[in-house]
Amino acid sequence: METVVSGIRPTGNLHLGNYFGAVKSFVKMQDEYNCLFFIADWHSLTTRPKPEDIVESTRIILAEYLACGIDHEKATIYMQSDVKETLELYLYFNMNTYLGELERVTTFKEKARKQPDNVNAGLLTYPTLMAADILQHRAVKVPVGKDQEQNMEMARHCARRFNNMYGVEFFPEPQSYYFSDKALKVPGLDGSGKMGKSEGNCIYLRDDAKTITKKVMKAVTDGGPTAQNSEKPEVIQNLFTFLSMVSEKETYDYFDEKWNDCSIRYGDLKKQIAQDIIKYTDPIRERIVEYSANIDLMDKIAKEGAEKAHESAAKTLKEVRQIMGFRELY
Ligand code: TYM
Repeated sequence: METVVSGIRPTGNLHLGNYFGAVKSFVKMQDEYNCLFFIADWHSLTTRPKPEDIVESTRIILAEYLACGIDHEKATIYMQSDVKETLELYLYFNMNTYLGELERVTTFKEKARKQPDNVNAGLLTYPTLMAADILQHRAVKVPVGKDQEQNMEMARHCARRFNNMYGVEFFPEPQSYYFSDKALKVPGLDGSGKMGKSEGNCIYLRDDAKTITKKVMKAVTDGGPTAQNSEKPEVIQNLFTFLSMVSEKETYDYFDEKWNDCSIRYGDLKKQIAQDIIKYTDPIRERIVEYSANIDLMDKIAKEGAEKAHESAAKTLKEVRQIMGFRELY
């Protein structure tokens, strides 16, 4: 059975970008693949969280994973920091990766601009840690959103370079997996291109109806269509992207028609989007509350997940050490 790996940083609650970009695929894939889904707590260190925040935020994400329908009996769910083999592979990949390659990664350049007083080595080597996350399980597919494309390219690069250096066909070149063929970028409703934690424009899965309505009604729009069947400007296309994610096809078609004949009323469109997001996330929110209260269950799931993930990674690292000429660990 093919292996799938993916993770999410625990820097707040899951938002619709995480859900539609990645988690929805996790749920779909767990029936067909050997899936390992983790919480990328080491990756979150680039922004220096407090210890108490790490404990809290990893539990939150775990509860949210479960509430979204990830089943710990089908998939392995674990904390990144519970599997130390990752660090060994990270070291090997760092030795094979050039500074120039890492400096060219767009997310590094963006982060370095946003936090100029904390451009740490972890930020620079973020892609090699991500490659280790994936390749320690020799995964072939990785469900991610569009923003991870460059990191995925780096992961393939790490695999290819290792194989070439040692003349082996050991690591597969992992491919991004998208729920519906195309890479998805969930937009922000504030007119910015992407919904994201650092953009501060998120609708969270645990937001209540009032909060969701408030956020959606504030969405940026324009003066309205001026000619029939015209192309939608980005801010309007963004609203239609939401419709396509949470609404019925007939609803989408209805507003599309209204756009095309210039009779669209943005207030009605936004109300519809808010209503459909609430309908979509309501059952998830209820389950988040239930799981969040069951700390014993979450600790048990994390422990079991750590054991399984460790077993999988240790098997890979044993072979990596042999290939590289290191002794077997005692
Ligand atoms: P993170 O925590 O920023 O986001 C988690 C997942 O959510 C997706 N995502 C989006 N997709 C579409 N539209 C959006 N607006 C949007 N916002 C977030 C991301 O693409 C991602 O799939 N580097 C990763 C975490 C990671 C990882 C890995 C992922 C660490 N190691 C190994 C896969 C495999 C990250 O920061 O994701």
